[in-house]
Amino acid sequence: MNENRKKIVVLSGAGISAESGIQTFRDSDGLWENYRVEDVCTPEALARDPELVIGFYNQRLAQVLKAKPNPGHTALVELEQKYDVRIVTQNIDDLHERAGSSNVLHLHGDIRKKRSQVDPDDIEDIVPLEKGIRMGDLDRYGKQFRPHIVFFGEAVPNIEPAAKLVEEADIVLIIGTSLNVYPAAGLMYYARPDAKIYYIDPKAESAKGLDKRVVCIAGKAGTAVPEMVRQLMEEA
Ligand code: OAD
Repeated sequence: MNENRKKIVVLSGAGISAESGIQTFRDSDGLWENYRVEDVCTPEALARDPELVIGFYNQRLAQVLKAKPNPGHTALVELEQKYDVRIVTQNIDDLHERAGSSNVLHLHGDIRKKRSQVDPDDIEDIVPLEKGIRMGDLDRYGKQFRPHIVFFGEAVPNIEPAAKLVEEADIVLIIGTSLNVYPAAGLMYYARPDAKIYYIDPKAESAKGLDKRVVCIAGKAGTAVPEMVRQLMEEA
């Protein structure tokens, strides 16, 4: 590892995977248009109707298994040739990993895994992935496994390591997130005063309340990220 390399932290959201065919949440065709968060993404929903919640996430898993990384994901891998790159993603898909990124921290969980409802550290791979989590798949306490997803109303265990990465970064790239969901949306405010911050999203320019330092780039990840990466590779 070259200690003199500049540090880049990427804060990615659903928009980076949109061109891979994975639905975002809050766009006009987004998931939250057809489902209510309270029905499928809260601890209360899981307690009330585990079959509905688990079925919802099994559908998400099926969508992820069909998807492939797009040029937005793959361009970020190239940056590792010249920078120390850390990816902090709100996404539960594994497209950054499949593209080849080395350091990926998931804030909201990982759709390929299941977790005990009793012991949060008991996290296991779903096997086979194609079948998803089955009803009757019990942990060692005899309780139904749940998706390894951070539901609304639950703590985000990886937020502290994520904030530390942002504090250390020279450059922060925010890609494809509506910046609606906290604490993830607040991470950019951990950046040092001299850090450069870029926000790539088709709606970047209409984002409200952003730090004055943030350079907004209105564009889709599949084209705007490779352009940004070309520029950063030249500057390195
Ligand atoms: P949203 O659905 O809230 O926002 C998606 C963002 O992607 C929007 O700002 C779009 O403009 C942008 N977008 C759409 N197409 C794009 C493209 N081709 N390239 C780049 N950007 C594009 O998704 P998130 O901000 O990621 O949490 O949502 C945050 C969290 O809310 C998710 O992690 C999820 C959700 O509820 C949980 O489920 C816990």
